[in-house]
Amino acid sequence: MLTYTPVSEAGGVGKTTTAATLAASHARAGHDVLAIDMDTQNGSLTYLFGPEYDRGDPEVDNLVRHLVGRPKGDFHDLTHEVGKGIDLIPSHNMLEDVHEFLLNEKNQAEKLGESYSMYHQLHRVLSDANVRDEYDVVIVDSAGKAGPILYNALVAVRNVVIPFEATAKGQESIEGLDDLVDGLESNIGVDVGVLSVVPIGYKDTRDQREILNALRESGFPVPVVIGERGSLMEGCWKEQCSPYGYVENHRDRKREYEMETLEQFDDLARYLEREAGVEQPEVTA
Ligand SMILES: Nc1ncnc2c1ncn2[C@@H]1O[C@H](COP(=O)(O)OP(=O)(O)OP(=O)(O)O)[C@@H](O)[C@H]1O
Ligand SMILES: [Mg+2]
Repeated sequence: MLTYTPVSEAGGVGKTTTAATLAASHARAGHDVLAIDMDTQNGSLTYLFGPEYDRGDPEVDNLVRHLVGRPKGDFHDLTHEVGKGIDLIPSHNMLEDVHEFLLNEKNQAEKLGESYSMYHQLHRVLSDANVRDEYDVVIVDSAGKAGPILYNALVAVRNVVIPFEATAKGQESIEGLDDLVDGLESNIGVDVGVLSVVPIGYKDTRDQREILNALRESGFPVPVVIGERGSLMEGCWKEQCSPYGYVENHRDRKREYEMETLEQFDDLARYLEREAGVEQPEVTA
């Protein structure tokens, strides 16, 4: 099973668009994908995939209830099929209080002389639900801020994909990548694998070329470089679809550079699948 979460030092680099595009690519290649949205902000995977769902309804069963051991129903009923091969667990406003909920559980467990790890709850929920038997790929998207949501995501998936803004402060942030990963590992006490760094919004200026070279020399895997595609990605947010869906259904003519970007996301998705040893499904003629 391939499992990862996008993380980045800065916000707004492209975690959610990368997660959504890769989820679509894995699914289009025939894999069963579980996408888990743990971001409370509005510009999240749940918005992009747009299932019929009220994230503010306190009565509805949601992932947080499962994380704190008070589910209202079966885990599998949390998922919404948002496309062929993609199940989404949508975000819920209760995520805003998850830290407090987890602390309460921890305090209670400790009073009873039991051990409790606040950061292992998503891992527990996914294992108990045997997601491994049902899905080939699990992608968790969060707001990316250090804290219990990100740590639960990391303990559960153990791998990161790092969207990377190739800007003038790039050199500094390449050095920051090691610190980012080391910091995460020490906070959760488990090793984190960097599956890929993905430069996003690349315009091939001289500065950016230098940054890209330095990034490649740093030893991080950089299988693809995604160009500046603001118009395509904004279109996805507007129409609430993946870039594949956007190009197919909302563009009146094909643009070569956009097709190339979709192929690069496919290459990245195949790369990640190979890294995890996820077998290509048999293609039937
Ligand atoms: N290749 C690209 N070229 C230009 N703009 C892009 C590209 N990919 C994504 N964007 C844009 O960057 C913005 C931020 O993207 P996104 O919401 O995915 O980032 P994020 O890291 O998830 O943000 P947050 O930290 O708020 O969760 C969006 O407006 C998106 O359309
Ligand atoms: Mg996001």
